[in-house]
Amino acid sequence: MVFLVELATAALFGARAVNAVYSIATTADIKTTAANIAWDLMQYYHGNESGQTPGILPGPPPAGDYYWWEAGAMWGTLIDYWKLTGDASYNDVIMQAMLWQVGPNKDYMPPNVTASLGNDDQGFWGMSAMLAAENGFPNPPSDQAQWLALAQAVFHTQAGADRHDTTCNGGLRWQIPLSNNGYNYKNSIANGCFFNLGARLARYTGNQTYADWAEKTWDWMRAVGFMDDDYNIYDGAHVEHNCTDINRAQFSYNNAVFLQGAAFMYNYTDGSEIWKQRLVGLTNATIRLFFPDNIAYEIACEEHMTCTTDMLSFKGYLHRWLAQSTQVAPILADTILPVLKTSTEAAVSTCTGEANGRTCGFKWSTKAYDGSHGAGQQMNVLAAVSTLLIGQAAPPYTNSTGGTSQGDYNAGTNSDTFQEKSDPPTTGDKAGAGILTVLILVSAIGTFGWMSIGD
Ligand SMILES: *[C@@H]1O[C@H](CO)[C@@H](O)[C@H](O)[C@H]1NC(C)=O
Ligand SMILES: *[C@@H]1O[C@H](CO)[C@@H](O)[C@H](O)[C@H]1NC(C)=O
Ligand SMILES: *[C@@H]1O[C@H](CO)[C@@H](O)[C@H](O)[C@H]1NC(C)=O
Ligand SMILES: *[C@@H]1O[C@H](CO)[C@@H](O)[C@H](O)[C@H]1NC(C)=O
Ligand SMILES: *[C@@H]1O[C@H](CO)[C@@H](O)[C@H](O)[C@H]1NC(C)=O
Ligand SMILES: *[C@@H]1O[C@H](CO)[C@@H](O)[C@H](O)[C@H]1NC(C)=O
Ligand SMILES: *[C@@H]1O[C@H](CO)[C@@H](O)[C@H](O)[C@H]1NC(C)=O
Repeated sequence: MVFLVELATAALFGARAVNAVYSIATTADIKTTAANIAWDLMQYYHGNESGQTPGILPGPPPAGDYYWWEAGAMWGTLIDYWKLTGDASYNDVIMQAMLWQVGPNKDYMPPNVTASLGNDDQGFWGMSAMLAAENGFPNPPSDQAQWLALAQAVFHTQAGADRHDTTCNGGLRWQIPLSNNGYNYKNSIANGCFFNLGARLARYTGNQTYADWAEKTWDWMRAVGFMDDDYNIYDGAHVEHNCTDINRAQFSYNNAVFLQGAAFMYNYTDGSEIWKQRLVGLTNATIRLFFPDNIAYEIACEEHMTCTTDMLSFKGYLHRWLAQSTQVAPILADTILPVLKTSTEAAVSTCTGEANGRTCGFKWSTKAYDGSHGAGQQMNVLAAVSTLLIGQAAPPYTNSTGGTSQGDYNAGTNSDTFQEKSDPPTTGDKAGAGILTVLILVSAIGTFGWMSIGD
């Protein structure tokens, strides 16, 4: 076994203190390493096998570990993998998956997932479609939905008056259908996905309407206190308390989704002073909180490994979105890229697990395999390794700089608004809903009591 030989060599020469399965020393090494990690990630996907549903990872619980959104995030990770490494092995699988899940109105609201459909879930699929347009991923056949139009459909549905009601002075709720558990919660990730898409649509299309919405969402986040003066971003709060009962748990994907959106706004506004200030401030706060010793750390749950399956995938978005921010805001490169490098070195050193000897773990700062494994863990390290090549990649396209995806300003206008009280979801559906369930948040307050001070 190569693995044992390499370890023995490392021991002999004492050169490498940590795992020697993977190297990221050269561009060729990075590509080989990423290819292996991607292959291992795809072992969790069965949607292209006969009798299975294309597009989704096994789930949702209790049928399997993964909620619908996480597969949407995985396709985005693989679209980046293709762009950064040039390996198109999974492009057909990605295409089939991304198109299967669009739903009858081509807005990423397939009826199968209505019972736990959050704005964040829809947003993650929308951001992957946006990425396909920005990365120049092959366009779908012309009789199918197009990437830009899909991203617009998601955004347009979320900008509707039915989604942006006046409770808490505005902002999106977590869940979309009013009968879902969590409809009474407004949160940072739902608004973060909307902000992120708005900023990117503004840059891609040049249409100011999207930028206005992004600006408005940022202002709302600050006014409601979900983002404070020091750029801490808190999870969310309930409409019946006018969003004053803020749950202060902090998750890295919230920072990352706002940071990337701010970078696009900075770029869209030709480097405006206001967006520069916000971007630099948020970058500092994000690195301070989520990269202790320059290694990604999911502060709300990592110490005692109370992370849910969802949370076990956040480090990947953190790496990808910070890396991409340096393309549209090169002023960040010297701050961000060295940190991502150190973090990635730690990440690959955890990939020594399980029977194949190369399965990746989650606790990167331990620089050893921690016994945990899953699509999230693989996706995180794949994201970290492949974005090491960000400096060699073309910046995200716009409609006038290489982008060829067809848009549609009417996309999403015929979508289901879910405003009639429909049959209540079954107990099983309710208990399992969405990215972070309220149940998890409530139980988390015991574990992360320090973060709830000041409620
Ligand atoms: C499903 O996709 C994987 C690539 O991830 C491929 O290796 C496999 O052959 C595909 N399976 C089928 C049945 O097409
Ligand atoms: C919805 O679920 C059915 C039954 O499992 C499946 O056949 C279908 O492909 C699913 N549709 C989507 C869009 O996932
Ligand atoms: C993109 O550019 C093309 C050609 O300039 C134009 O026809 C199209 O309307 C533009 N699309 C958007 C969404 O602005
Ligand atoms: C800009 O986008 C909005 C909605 O997203 C659309 O209604 C409007 O027509 C677009 N403006 C232009 C000039 O295309
Ligand atoms: C609700 O909170 C907002 C600040 O987010 C404040 O402007 C508004 O006055 C509050 N409304 C009520 C009814 O307290
Ligand atoms: C961000 O951090 C850098 C280096 O630590 C520091 O020079 C800069 O002043 C900080 N900026 C802000 C807005 O906090
Ligand atoms: C905006 O992004 C482009 C890459 O698409 C980059 O060349 C340019 O420097 C960025 N603008 C600013 C103000 O950083």
